[in-house]
Amino acid sequence: MTTPRPLRILGIETSCDETAAAIVDGDRRILADRILSQTAIHVPYGGIVPEIAARAHLDHLDGLIRDALAEADLRIADLDAIAATGGPGLIGGVMVGVMAAKGIALTARLPFLAVNHLEGHALTPRLSHGLAFPYLLLLVSGGHTQLLVVEGVGRYARLGTTIDDAAGEAFDKTAKLLGLPYPGGPAIERAARDGDPARFALPRPMLGRPGCDFSFSGLKTAVRNAVAALPGPPAPQDVADMAAAFQAAVAAVVADRCRRAAALFRQRHPTGGALVVAGGVAANGAIRSALERIAAEAGMPFVAPPHRLCTDNGAMIAWAAIERFRLGQQDGLDFAPRPRWPLDPGAPKAIGAGVKA
Ligand code: KG4
Ligand code: ZN
Repeated sequence: MTTPRPLRILGIETSCDETAAAIVDGDRRILADRILSQTAIHVPYGGIVPEIAARAHLDHLDGLIRDALAEADLRIADLDAIAATGGPGLIGGVMVGVMAAKGIALTARLPFLAVNHLEGHALTPRLSHGLAFPYLLLLVSGGHTQLLVVEGVGRYARLGTTIDDAAGEAFDKTAKLLGLPYPGGPAIERAARDGDPARFALPRPMLGRPGCDFSFSGLKTAVRNAVAALPGPPAPQDVADMAAAFQAAVAAVVADRCRRAAALFRQRHPTGGALVVAGGVAANGAIRSALERIAAEAGMPFVAPPHRLCTDNGAMIAWAAIERFRLGQQDGLDFAPRPRWPLDPGAPKAIGAGVKA
């Protein structure tokens, strides 16, 4: 008797500015992983233009799916299901991915799964590290800043979220104020290397407050005011000092919120667990070091999936679909894309939470 082969699922991601298609199997192997970033297309606008993003997804998705199948040396008939991000995200893009996945599922008579993009991020450490439940997840990207307890597939408790801008959004907007290019996070981190974080005194929003919510818009306003107070346009040293001060403030706030979240996690789960970080902002060295410190203090391992799996990708969608499919879940072809789709519907509503994850 031959052992049954592991499940294989195609995952499609089109909810923001990455067009991605990947094939993952139930043994945590990434058989193909294609990502096309649209960053260059949006650079002239200093941010993502939803209509342009949707059109670019439409132009490139079919080719990426074909490339993924070729890379894995598989045909559609060799797959067990087709999955796409069903939300939350920029709705035009989500529709492109969902329509493509439904079309393939229908013609190949395969099950279809609509995956919550946030669930994709949340389950990634199980793909990259085989991490056991439960764990504490900090998701910090251009569209979301959330602290979640991941208890199991479909079981997420949100401890905190941003009440205004997402962390990545704050990096991007602050970079713009400082005349740095988009995306702002890497540009600020680079500039900050030559800067003195102590020259400008920036606020630390939410520091020491009860709960685990975040706020970044006051920080951005403080940078704007500090720039306006300079005698002239910011010189390179001013930009470096401001970037360093901003990055230090974000890292301090993130550390404070995560310390509280780790304590709440410990109340729910006295042993075990891990602190996991995901999302584009997880690339930031200062934030990472702060998180490593918090994890050590809380007696938890610190887990950061590889950068390629931390930012938007198709493998996380395929993997989340594998986890759900194993539990017997799939979605109907009448699934309607969702611009908003909280992971924890019971959590209090965040004010002005972005659509991008
Ligand atoms: O997860 P991601 O690639 O895309 C989504 O938001 O879906 O995150 C992008 C965000 C951008 O706001 C970018 O400025 C930020 O992550 N980012 C960083 C760094 N690299 C990317 N922020 C701070 N430091 C970085 N090194
Ligand atoms: Zn995302």
